Amino acid sequence: MNAKRAPLAIANWKMNKSPREAAAFLDEFLPRRSGFPEGVQVAIAPAFPALERVGRLLLHSGVLLGAQDVHTEAKGAHTGEVSAPMLKDLEVQLALVGHSERRRDRKEGESECGKKITRLLEAGIPAVYCVGETLEEREKGETDAVLTRQMTCFDAFPDGPPPGIVLAYEPVWAIGTGRAATPQMAQDAHRVLRGLLEKRYGAAHAEAIRILYGGSVTPANARELFSQPDIDGGLVGGASLVPKDFEAIVLAAG
Ligand code: PGA
Repeated sequence: MNAKRAPLAIANWKMNKSPREAAAFLDEFLPRRSGFPEGVQVAIAPAFPALERVGRLLLHSGVLLGAQDVHTEAKGAHTGEVSAPMLKDLEVQLALVGHSERRRDRKEGESECGKKITRLLEAGIPAVYCVGETLEEREKGETDAVLTRQMTCFDAFPDGPPPGIVLAYEPVWAIGTGRAATPQMAQDAHRVLRGLLEKRYGAAHAEAIRILYGGSVTPANARELFSQPDIDGGLVGGASLVPKDFEAIVLAAG
């Protein structure tokens, strides 16, 4: 953590929790927020069907509403898709782009991610851009090269970083496996990412942009991960489904 950047903890619920289950979670989670450390930002990214209900329940709570994805186009003939203006209408405050499960399942690449970030920007919604290497890439010593390639999505923004952009370093081998990166491994990757931001946009922007760690963050490992100088919070999957576990992770970010 660095005092200049506000810590952020995002719950990525993935394809879990119906609107009703989401409401039950918030019933238990929201009363706990009086104990949250000051200055820590908290967001919940439910699946699309629960967005409206969660948004209504989060109103005036101080907890931000997040989306897990967005389409590359603002409107049109794209059956089953959801656009940035629709998210804006639901008062979504941030959206994930390029999660590794979408890169894997939908073959999303850098240029598609760049378009998604552009649509979000047009709608005034900050993106959380996810990057990270597979186990095979790490074992071959390709981690830095993969991160460098994934960061080319910012070629779409030559004049400066998209306002409010957040990065999330999520090594694919750590996601949902119970095998988190060590704090040092994560710090090293975050340092590389901050260096790439600096090269592209200069030191002031690089120092201001938050970089979250994701991949098997738990109440047990969160504090040590978040104590690293370039780790500004977490993108949390499995452990964010349980109110007291996500609460513990929010406390660790304080
Ligand atoms: P996990 O998922 O915490 O369950 O590993 C993190 C993510 O994919 O965002």
